[in-house]
Amino acid sequence: MSTVPILKIEKLSNSFPGVKALADVNFTLRKGEIHGLMGENGAGKSTLIKVVTGLYRKDTGGGIFFEDKLFEAHSPMEATKSGISTVYQEINLIPNLSVAENIFLGRQPIRRGMIDWKEINARAETALKKLDIHIDLTKPLSSYSIAIQQMVSIARALDISAKILILDEATSSLDAAEVEQLFSVMRKLKSEGLSIIFITHFINQIYEISDRITVLRNGKLVGEYETSTLPRVELIARMLGKELVEFQYKAPERLRGEKKSPNKVFLQVRSMERRGSISAFDLDICKGEVLGLAGLLGSGRTEIARLLFGIDKPERGNTLLDGKRISISSPKKAIENNFGFCPENRISEGIIPELTVRENIILALQAKNGVFKYLSRKRQEEIADRYIKALNIITPTADQITKNLSGGNQQKVIVARWLASNPRFLILDEPTRGIDVGTKAEIQQLILSLSRKGMAILFISSELEEMIRCCQRIAVLRDRCKIAELTGKQIDQKVIMRTIAEG
Ligand SMILES: Nc1ncnc2c1ncn2[C@@H]1O[C@H](COP(=O)(O)OP(=O)(O)OP(=O)(O)O)[C@@H](O)[C@H]1O
Ligand SMILES: [Mg+2]
Repeated sequence: MSTVPILKIEKLSNSFPGVKALADVNFTLRKGEIHGLMGENGAGKSTLIKVVTGLYRKDTGGGIFFEDKLFEAHSPMEATKSGISTVYQEINLIPNLSVAENIFLGRQPIRRGMIDWKEINARAETALKKLDIHIDLTKPLSSYSIAIQQMVSIARALDISAKILILDEATSSLDAAEVEQLFSVMRKLKSEGLSIIFITHFINQIYEISDRITVLRNGKLVGEYETSTLPRVELIARMLGKELVEFQYKAPERLRGEKKSPNKVFLQVRSMERRGSISAFDLDICKGEVLGLAGLLGSGRTEIARLLFGIDKPERGNTLLDGKRISISSPKKAIENNFGFCPENRISEGIIPELTVRENIILALQAKNGVFKYLSRKRQEEIADRYIKALNIITPTADQITKNLSGGNQQKVIVARWLASNPRFLILDEPTRGIDVGTKAEIQQLILSLSRKGMAILFISSELEEMIRCCQRIAVLRDRCKIAELTGKQIDQKVIMRTIAEG
């Protein structure tokens, strides 16, 4: 790897009303390196990228140098044309267009005044082959999983002869195998001289793939490090801005393991089935219990959650709630019975971007109370403040418009909404995705304290570590089938992985 810089950022600042998102930040990307950009939610990572790619304006002063020349893009399109391509966590493609059309969106090759479909399909196929993806390119994008859609946006970014590829949390919805697949492509591209900026909250991924790491905190540069000489605890301490000692002292120990007498079964599901979605399963959920659903992407975890909450309808099976037959035939019915559901796709299914942080947080509680029992402004403020503190939501005030928060902080708002609604039964689908290491631990603590107070919780996560820390019982799914239930000593990384793999 060369030490020649391809991108140099000097004293870059960026301000929003009430927020200094970046303050005099320096950053250097070398040619042919993979550079991790790390920091807590709201640290300024995405803002840095958005300034470089022309989505945001920098404050006066400071400069961006691309291949030694002063660089200023006025739009992401312009940045892309100059060779800087970005892939974000949110997939911003068009679901009902075909895969091939999406790869060439806005830049279809034209021949004799007509869109050249043959060329599009051939080039799309080559682009996806590079990523080892073999799918029908003529099908609509929406017919594929989020992971495949993410790969398609990466293929799109790579088709334009990029010199710099920026991945802003692009791996957050990929499973382990897909991440590996992407990493091998990244290594290959790196060997061909591509420079990559990689943003993630997964510490393991950063150590596996990056050459160097830059850490931001509160919009300021903390430092630039060689990955191989930076111990993990030190990286985390740098990100959180805590002394190493303090951090290690506070490092939460294993949270589970409180031996409890078996609780009363709250929800009892028998032979529930929906063809093509999930095979017949039984499930008991107890009061005060955190029950985990483990399995790979597409194994049926979210499908179970949707059935339990009445979003999808089962073809057969029955449900007992507190021992009485009930049919949760719609989300409305679920909410009437005091169920809550924090969905996986929070940005599209949960957040109302134009509402303030406070309004978003109290939404579910207000809905539950009904329009005639309006929460007083004071009560709203108390609840919002409590969760802003508890989940460390970075915002100038509770009255900030939610869409102005960083990605991870928007997610915290939705998690806060469901925690605040105080349901009897709460389904959390990937509640800590995109959330930084510090707050992740806070959320896990909150989940456990709610369960201690009697809430029944169904917890879905792709990160086994957090499942192990939080769950008293884990149901394992594979190929849309519930194949096992683990308790006690079986709640162990190796056992879970083996069960997922072999049944
Ligand atoms: N359009 C905007 N208006 C107002 N404030 C903004 C805007 N965009 C970003 N900010 C603020 O700038 C700060 C940095 O946000 P940024 O999105 O860069 O964080 P991040 O490091 O990418 O965090 P995350 O890990 O959550 O994605 C945050 O405090 C955020 O609220
Ligand atoms: Mg971000």
